[in-house]
Amino acid sequence: MARATRSASGSLQLTFDDLAVPQTLEELEAVVKNCRKCPLAAGRTNVVFGEGNPHALLMFIGEGPGAEEDRQGRPFVGPAGQLLDRILAACGIKREEVYIANIVKCRPPGNRVPTKEEAEACLPYLRRQIELIRPKIIVLLGATALQYLVGSGARITKIRGQWLGPLYGAQIMPTYHPAALLRDASKKRPAWEDFKKVRDAYFGLKRQGL
Ligand code: URA
Ligand code: SF4
Repeated sequence: MARATRSASGSLQLTFDDLAVPQTLEELEAVVKNCRKCPLAAGRTNVVFGEGNPHALLMFIGEGPGAEEDRQGRPFVGPAGQLLDRILAACGIKREEVYIANIVKCRPPGNRVPTKEEAEACLPYLRRQIELIRPKIIVLLGATALQYLVGSGARITKIRGQWLGPLYGAQIMPTYHPAALLRDASKKRPAWEDFKKVRDAYFGLKRQGL
């Protein structure tokens, strides 16, 4: 069992302190697949651990699985995922090159936003995922990823498109969630500006042979 501790800020955090810290993504995935630490376990069909290149320079973090993700056990495979795939293709980036994960690994009912308790129960897994993958660029897709990884109270509308960090050893780019682009087409142009920054930084790193 993971141990509950109080962080300096007083928020409840679950850590790997008192157990063998998973040393590989495969070990971590085995732990997460059996997790029942929060109420989302009850409603899931599949745990959506995340997928992609275990050595990715570029990582994307969304909010949590939707219906199609829950059904398939894979991140970003529903309508928002198909849009993300098109954006990646427009950037000249293959989905297999990057790593894609979420704040919570189990589907919130009706696609509601995960509660603070759910997100905080699940975050140690994402943090360990980031430590094991060691991406150089992390794209935060939407307000939930921004809130829990940067801890920023900033609105995504205000803060998107600006490099933050380094945090977790990576430059951080917050942008709109692809589902928000599907709801509001006026967000597509600014999101594309953000993705061009990500693309240029990513190909810059690749040119350096990183
Ligand atoms: N939305 C998310 O935030 N994550 C997914 O995996 C799919 C849709
Ligand atoms: Fe465990 Fe995360 Fe699923 Fe909650 S959402 S049961 S913490 S894997």
